[in-house]
Amino acid sequence: MEKVLVLDFGGQYDQLIARRVREAGVYAQIRPWDGITLQEIKVEGYKGIIFTGGPNSVYDPDSPRCDAAVMDLGIPILGICYGAQLLAWLGGGRVSFAEHSGEYGKTILWVHGHPLFKGIPKESICWMSHTDIISTPPSGFEVIAQTENCPCAAMADDTRLLYGVQFHPEVSHTVFGKEILRNFLFSVCGCRGDWDARHYAQELIDEYRSKLCGKKVLLALSGGVDSSVAALLLHRAVGQRLVCVFVDHGLLRKGEGDYVEDTFRRSFGINLVRVNAQERFLERLAGITDPEIKRKNIGEEFIRVFEEEAQKLGHINVLAQGTIYPDVIESGKGASATIKSHHNVGGLPDTISFEEIVEPLRNLFKDEVRSVGTMLGLPARLVWRQPFPGPGLAVRITGEITKEKLKLLREADAVFCEEISRASLEKEPDQYFAVLTDTRTVGVMGDARTYGFTVALRAVCTDDFMTAEWTRLPYEVLERASVRITNEVPGISRVVYDISSKPPATVEWE
Ligand code: XMP
Repeated sequence: MEKVLVLDFGGQYDQLIARRVREAGVYAQIRPWDGITLQEIKVEGYKGIIFTGGPNSVYDPDSPRCDAAVMDLGIPILGICYGAQLLAWLGGGRVSFAEHSGEYGKTILWVHGHPLFKGIPKESICWMSHTDIISTPPSGFEVIAQTENCPCAAMADDTRLLYGVQFHPEVSHTVFGKEILRNFLFSVCGCRGDWDARHYAQELIDEYRSKLCGKKVLLALSGGVDSSVAALLLHRAVGQRLVCVFVDHGLLRKGEGDYVEDTFRRSFGINLVRVNAQERFLERLAGITDPEIKRKNIGEEFIRVFEEEAQKLGHINVLAQGTIYPDVIESGKGASATIKSHHNVGGLPDTISFEEIVEPLRNLFKDEVRSVGTMLGLPARLVWRQPFPGPGLAVRITGEITKEKLKLLREADAVFCEEISRASLEKEPDQYFAVLTDTRTVGVMGDARTYGFTVALRAVCTDDFMTAEWTRLPYEVLERASVRITNEVPGISRVVYDISSKPPATVEWE
């Protein structure tokens, strides 16, 4: 499989670059600037290299740099923003601080006729974010684009196949950014575009079939997209030697536990152990109001339950995890022994020893995981499931968690979700749910006074969940949800809509 290296110099768009490359049908691998040697680059056989942007200035002695010899490997390079400046600097050109000519945001770009800009109008909008500029390109390079403040917005050395762009082609505001990346990949690097997550899935199944030959594999299944796809993939590879343990902590949404069990056990015939641990979790949460202690207790209890179940299963060789590519990059650790805690409710046991940990999805982005899931027949409801926190409804109930409160929240949440689907708005917000606040207020029903809980509805739009905007849901949808919740869920007398964005608020209330 042909592949391209994305050499990360600390920019904020490294993952976006890799995603764009993969969307174009070429497999991209991100490596930190100091995480790969020249020798390794050669051995890996990359078709091209992309230097990412980064916050530094190349003339700062502490800035990240790679060996200039990378320019002589005969592998085409595209430098983006800091990456372009680095190419210029490594090649003996000049980069200077441009106090008054820094550009931030949408900027008009004028391009020369060059294969990198094939099919692109002479004038278009690009996205800039820089203070330094390439004031003199290195010898062998010609200037191939400009902006008002940037005399060298792009440069090319067609002999050595080295290119630099000051703007960000990976960002959607650069109107022809995708075309520029495609021109680099196909015209310059000569890629064919043979990457497709769906074909890759079959390769993974074959790979794990031989790798896990005769071994017993354990997977903690939550019903989230990642662990669900990992389960299906491994089930195809090892069949009944895969055991999935689904810990139902009682903090799931309405009908969720039964749906997960039904889908995996009955529809797919997966060897699934459902642990009904609702009472244990409620005991661990009794009287607790501090959000962090709730999370900690749930995490610890999860490990305990999982451990007990694993012991009951006898000797297991391999622990499988649904870690995906962004988790690998974010954790900054290449080794597969890293156990992510966020998605697995505080980690998995380290007291049981496994011979091996496998993470079949560790090279895939979320959208690729979804297409693998679809290919493997995972129902759309699970493929497109919105994120759900490991600690579940516990972080959506402020104050103490009780069975009664969980019931109220489940009902209110189900009504809200139903109204969103009735309005065909499921794909509008990236996440939507109800929160049960600890605030009780006075209401009136018929002629009687009520004193019930307040439910908050939350819906957010986001690209990456690091920041999020509250969704402008139609008033009619909010109104229907409010009327139905107060009518259909006794104990709730008021509904409010959360109009806070992240930051400063977070998506979840706790
Ligand atoms: P916050 O509340 O941090 O949420 O803005 C960002 C995204 O992460 C999800 N989230 C979690 N997911 N375990 C998870 O697997 C957790 O402990 C957890 N806490 C928050 C949240 O639902 C949102 O999508």
